[in-house]
Amino acid sequence: MLELTRKDMEFFKTEGYLVKRKVLDAELMERARARLWDSAPTGRCRENPDTWVGPFRPEEENHEKSNHRRGFRWNFREPGGEEWMIRLLATDPNVWHMAEQLLGTGNLVQPDRVRGIYCTLPYGDVPKKSIGCHVDAHPFHLGAVGYIDDVPPEGGGFTVWPGSHQTFYYDYRSQYKNEPTPQYDVDRERISRGPGIECYGNAGDVVFWHHRIGHAAGHNHSWQIRQAVLYDFRKTELVKTQEEPPNEDMWQDWPGIKALDYE
Ligand SMILES: [Fe+2]
Repeated sequence: MLELTRKDMEFFKTEGYLVKRKVLDAELMERARARLWDSAPTGRCRENPDTWVGPFRPEEENHEKSNHRRGFRWNFREPGGEEWMIRLLATDPNVWHMAEQLLGTGNLVQPDRVRGIYCTLPYGDVPKKSIGCHVDAHPFHLGAVGYIDDVPPEGGGFTVWPGSHQTFYYDYRSQYKNEPTPQYDVDRERISRGPGIECYGNAGDVVFWHHRIGHAAGHNHSWQIRQAVLYDFRKTELVKTQEEPPNEDMWQDWPGIKALDYE
């Protein structure tokens, strides 16, 4: 079983994210890649990387949520509720165990789906631009982004603004709901001007991230399609705690992190 070390947990606490390498199951990743390509528009071929470059042409766009394609983004949510997809990420024994190390054993909601396979097509020869961060709106505790194919540097990796969770956590009226105070926009502008850290890596790597960290999908200047599976871990108590105001101790709901102080 893969474990988070004390150092990992301390890193997560201060930086708000953590990359663990070689976590996901190879067979399930291949199944996911194959499933994705089965739903690609005609003319985009797995065997021919020349056909991978975006954006999608207007006739390739799809506005249905289950297989949403627009511009450089392709969010294939259709298989997100299938048993093997849930097992690929959320209930992968290692991923689940590490989530429980942070949030406590027996505390997690049993998933009925993961978000799906989220892709960013290569941008081709477009000039590089800086990106700004945001915080996600829906209530959850711990995000997990799993790469099902290699994500080289500047290849659209999940990008985080380290440490920003410690600021953004207090920029909301409640712990988990989407009720930002006016300070959120002020901090978002300021923090976005600083450098984000791009989590690049290989197929099988997983990025764990705190629900209030500033983040963005990186731009893809590689020639690979960025393919990630996403899941948001929630504790069963979320409905009760989500409207509480931010706590003086922002880790009160994280037994694994709190335990670091007592060991
Ligand atoms: Fe987001």
